[in-house]
Order: sequence, then structure tokens, then C-alpha cells
Amino acid sequence: MTLTPYTAPAPVPTSRIFHKDIFHGKIVLCSGGGSGICRGMTEALLRHGAKACIISRNKERIEKAAKEMSESTGQEVLGLSADVREPAQVEAAVKATVERFGKIDILINGAAGNFLSPISDLSYNAFKTVIDIDLRGTFNLTKAALDELKKSHGTILNVTATLAYTGTPFQAHAGSAKAAIDAMTKHQAVELGPFGIRANVIAPGPIASTVGMAKLSHKPKDGEAPQPMAIPLGRIGEIRDIEHTTLFLCSEAACWITGVIIVVDGGCWMTLAPYQYPQLVLNPPSRM
Ligand code: COA
Ligand code: NAP
Repeated sequence: MTLTPYTAPAPVPTSRIFHKDIFHGKIVLCSGGGSGICRGMTEALLRHGAKACIISRNKERIEKAAKEMSESTGQEVLGLSADVREPAQVEAAVKATVERFGKIDILINGAAGNFLSPISDLSYNAFKTVIDIDLRGTFNLTKAALDELKKSHGTILNVTATLAYTGTPFQAHAGSAKAAIDAMTKHQAVELGPFGIRANVIAPGPIASTVGMAKLSHKPKDGEAPQPMAIPLGRIGEIRDIEHTTLFLCSEAACWITGVIIVVDGGCWMTLAPYQYPQLVLNPPSRM
């Protein structure tokens, strides 16, 4: 008898699991909150009672996202242009958030930049750019928001990835940055716990319909069959999978949880084989 592998059900709406008011009165500050996964994370908190400030570089896009998110959730959302690499800009964003909402309870560090590149083709500036956005950006915004988080006994949620766990090819820049953020989260947890601040990580796996997934998926050449993904729970991720973990980690249900990394990936970091390894690392395309 041939058995069919299990496929996890699609994630249910967060309202089926979490009470609609659990974040009533809470203020979120999220970098990268105008698109993709971090927009989903912020929208989930809004739908459950929070208000938010979202920041990213592109002023027009972030303001448009804030308006749409406010209309769809009925909550106040402030969209601000700020580059997380620039301390003065993140300090201004923190100040504007507090001027508008009075405090910050939940800080999500989600802004990131990535692309596929062999180490040999990665320019010094390309490596620096990704470290600056992901790692330094996480430090910059956390430092800028720290006094507010101390006052509110707030929580920090850093968004990383599983890339470094298996040394994923063509991801030395992002994998190194995300691994350092995992480490930074433990330092935050231990040093800031006595101030009443929790710090945790969500490490998503491949999430459908995101920029990250589009940029990092290897496109098979003409005529080649796509390499199927080996995912223990049988399906690719949805933004809603990350929303559930966000609501749990930011809620009182997690009040004794700090310094942890929750991988939300259907188990696939343990099983995914690198695409066409080792042939592709020996003969990579010129610009991936
Ligand atoms: N492969 C190799 N190097 C690349 C690259 C690629 N696909 N894209 C950019 N670079 C290099 C550039 O050539 C430049 O290096 P150089 O000065 O030595 O030529 C360096 O990276 C910085 O590029 P630049 O375009 O000036 O940076 P930026 O700050 O404007 O943009 C990126 C940052 C490159 C990360 C851009 O992809 C981005 O803005 N990403 C945000 C969205 C995203 O990546 N989402 C997915 C998250 S998982
Ligand atoms: P995305 O939509 O491209 O999100 C990245 C966001 O960061 C964008 O809103 C971008 O907006 C912002 N940003 C980039 N550089 C910035 C800077 N210097 N300052 C401020 N904001 C900046 O990507 P995504 O795929 O949803 O990824 C979201 C997060 O999940 C990232 O941390 C990523 O590493 C992580 N992740 C994603 C996947 C996946 O499958 N997609 C898997 C694992 C981990 P602007 O361009 O306007 O600045």
C-alpha cells in the first residue's frame, strides 16, 4: 500500500484562536511593517486591539500601507519613512511614535534585505549592506526604543531565518546577519529581563507570496523540473502561520518566555537539500 504524506491544514484566521481584545491599548512599532510578513504580523496585532507605527525607507509605500492597514482593521496606524541603518532616523521614528501614541509596548525588528549571491561575487559593500540593514538595523531600533520599552515592560520580537543552521549556499551575508540577531536576542533577554522586557525570535521558513520567497527561490532553467521542497508538514508557509506565533509570543500567554527562537517552517530546515548541490556552487550563474 502506498501511503500519502500528510499535509498540514491551512492556518485558520487568528480570530478563531485569540480573543479580539488581547492587545487592546498596546502600541506596536514595527520595522518593515508595510509589506510581506511583517505587515501580516502588525495587522494581526491591530485586529486584536493594538495600534501601530510602521517604518521603512519608501515614504509613499509606507504611508499607503499604513492607510490600508488602518482601513482594514479600524485601528490607528502611523506610517513613517526611516532607514534602520541611520540612528538619527530611527530615533526620530521612536519620538514620533511616542508623540502620537504615548508609549511603545511591542517592538518588531523585521526590516531586511537579501538576494542570492556566491561569496566570490559578493562585493565588500554588498555584504556590509545586508549586515547594516538586518543586524545593525535591529540594534539601532532596539537601542532607540529601549527607554520606552523599559517604561512599558515591553517585548521585543526579532525576525530572523534558518539559513545559517545548515550553511545555505549563496546566503553567507543574510545567514550571518540573522545568526547574529539570534545571538543578540539572547543578550537582550538576559540583560533586559530584569527591566521587565522580554526578547524573542521568530524564524520563518519559506512563506508564499513574499518578496523574500520570490528573491531567494531558484528558478529552474527552461525544461528543468522544479525541485520539490521536502517539508515534513507537507506545505509551504503562509503569512498567517507567522501571525499566530506573533500573537502568542507578544501576549501574556508568553509572559515567562524570553530568549527563545521559534522556527515556523513546517520542519523544513532539517530536510531541505540545497538546490542542485554541489553543481550550482561550482558553476553559479553570473548574477543570481
Ligand atoms: N547580487 C549581488 N550583489 C548585489 C545584489 C545582488 N542581487 N543586489 C545588490 N547588490 C550589491 C550592490 O551591487 C551594491 O554593492 P556595490 O556597491 O559593491 O556594487 C550593494 O549590494 C548595495 O546595493 P544597493 O542597491 O546600493 O543597496 P540598497 O541599500 O539600495 O538596497 C538591497 C539593499 C540590495 C538589500 C535591496 O535588495 C533591498 O532594498 N532589499 C529590500 C527588500 C528585500 O530584499 N526583501 C527580502 C527580505 S528576505
Ligand atoms: P519584504 O516584504 O521585502 O520586507 C522587507 C521590508 O524591510 C520592506 O518593507 C522594506 O521596505 C523594509 N526595509 C528594507 N530595508 C530597509 C531599511 N534599510 N530600513 C527600513 N526598512 C527597510 O520581505 P519579506 O519576505 O516579507 O521578509 C520579512 C522578514 O521575514 C525579513 O526579516 C526576512 O528576512 C524574514 N524572512 C522571510 C522569509 C520569506 O520566505 N519571505 C523567510 C525567512 C525569513 P522599504 O523597501 O520601503 O524600505
